[in-house]
Amino acid sequence: MTSRIRKLWSNPSTMRIIGIVVVALFAAGLISCATLTRVVVVPPQIPGATFVGSENCSQCHENITRDFKTASHARLHASGPNSTEIGCESCHGPGSVHSESGGARQTIVNPKKDPEACFACHLDKRGEFHLASHHPVLEGKMGCGDCHNVHKGDAILGGAFSLASERETCGKCHIAQHGPFVFEHEAIREGCTICHNAHGTVNAKLLTQRNQNLCIRCHFQQQAPGGQLLIGGRDHRQFVSKGTCWTAGCHEAVHGSQIGSLLRY
Ligand code: HEC
Ligand code: HEC
Ligand code: HEC
Ligand code: HEC
Ligand code: HEC
Ligand code: HEC
Ligand code: HEC
Repeated sequence: MTSRIRKLWSNPSTMRIIGIVVVALFAAGLISCATLTRVVVVPPQIPGATFVGSENCSQCHENITRDFKTASHARLHASGPNSTEIGCESCHGPGSVHSESGGARQTIVNPKKDPEACFACHLDKRGEFHLASHHPVLEGKMGCGDCHNVHKGDAILGGAFSLASERETCGKCHIAQHGPFVFEHEAIREGCTICHNAHGTVNAKLLTQRNQNLCIRCHFQQQAPGGQLLIGGRDHRQFVSKGTCWTAGCHEAVHGSQIGSLLRY
């Protein structure tokens, strides 16, 4: 855990984002200093509302606030006079109106409906969801929270520390690719993101590569005497010109098969 935190804080993108947060706080007038005027990001805005701090939220959202200590984003908590502004309200916007109204729904930002709250800090992610193939988050059909833990534990579900659960996360919605299969493709054990970028890609079906490069990084291609092109010990000379490795009639059942070990059906 500690080494992960250290990694987080020594990560240049962390430092960049923290820079952005600080600038955002400047922009919101939470830190006063005459030298910095450029507005980079503005945290979620709610007319007439001011920041009340995460402690306030705990009165009514006790469980979320209690568990939030374990969340990746809890590490963004600053100490000192500005600490209250970097907590629940960094994603939900200032909470005074919501809190005083006893929890009226329209008075607080819900990133489930509006991922802009996340893009304020993760600006690069907006572009990923605009790529040709993408999960329909901007279309409002799903939210970042369907794949990420925002309130508790690791924000990346089944990241480097539990590969099995990435499969569970994706499998909630993609039952056909989840299995179980009689003949499992062992690649799946390394997680779905070995082949897919979960946000978006320029290639169809969110694939990280559009051709056999997707496969041959694990299944080495080898030239053999007599012009043979060996992949997995078999001559593929006559197949490679037919399309991708998963073209109909080839390894169509790339996630796993109930019928044969060669993942063809
Ligand atoms: C990193 C951004 C982020 C932070 C920080 C955050 N939330 Fe959320 N919150 C979300 C997202 C995203 C959703 C929508 C979850 C979903 O898609 O189901 C949400 C939903 C909610 C909901 C609606 C009910 C629910 O469970 O879906 C409540 C209440 C809530 N958050 C309270 C809090 C409180 C209290 C804190 C601070 C302890 C907090 N949030 C911190 C992102 C955040
Ligand atoms: C006085 C009690 C109270 C306080 C304080 C409070 N909330 Fe709420 N909150 C509620 C109630 C009640 C709901 C509505 C729950 C429902 O209808 O399902 C709610 C709903 C929400 C939702 C979901 C809104 C939606 O669109 O569905 C979010 C997000 C949320 N609160 C965040 C916060 C945050 C962040 C704070 C602290 C700044 C906070 N709340 C403080 C009572 C409160
Ligand atoms: C106030 C700025 C801020 C907001 C708002 C914010 N994040 Fe983050 N988030 C960060 C920082 C800083 C990191 C750590 C740096 C990194 O790993 O890139 C981070 C890390 C993450 C990670 C990776 C965690 C890990 O374990 O490596 C995910 C996933 C993530 N955020 C998702 C979200 C989602 C989804 C939302 C909106 C609901 C959101 N963030 C809103 C600042 C923010
Ligand atoms: C379909 C599932 C899914 C959705 C929806 C999703 N993510 Fe992710 N996200 C992932 C996975 C899986 C990873 C880990 C990628 C990896 O380890 O290669 C990730 C990684 C991240 C990271 C950290 C790694 C990095 O590239 O910096 C951030 C930040 C992040 N997502 C933000 C978001 C935001 C913001 C949204 C909503 C606008 C979102 N994600 C929606 C699955 C998803
Ligand atoms: C909350 C449900 C949900 C989760 C969780 C989810 N997806 Fe999806 N996925 C969708 C939806 C909805 C689409 C869009 C389907 C469409 O446009 O017909 C989609 C599309 C896809 C596609 C492209 C299909 C196509 O025809 O272009 C791939 C590949 C994919 N998801 C992989 C993943 C992976 C990998 C994960 C886990 C990191 C994941 N999904 C998690 C709902 C989900
Ligand atoms: C070894 C690489 C690889 C891995 C690992 C992988 N996929 Fe795929 N996936 C593919 C390929 C290749 C396609 C395109 C198949 C096609 O076009 O017929 C695909 C297509 C998909 C589709 C679209 C299916 C359709 O009929 O349009 C979904 C959804 C999907 N994968 C989800 C997942 C999920 C969930 C996981 C993890 C359990 C996963 N994939 C792991 C290679 C992979
Ligand atoms: C992350 C590494 C990895 C990737 C990427 C990968 N595979 Fe695999 N694949 C394996 C492993 C491991 C096995 C089981 C051991 C073996 O047979 O080589 C396997 C087995 C297979 C088998 C069964 C071989 C046999 O003789 O029983 C086929 C067919 C296959 N993969 C096709 C593909 C295709 C098509 C792709 C690209 C869409 C792909 N693989 C991508 C790791 C991978």
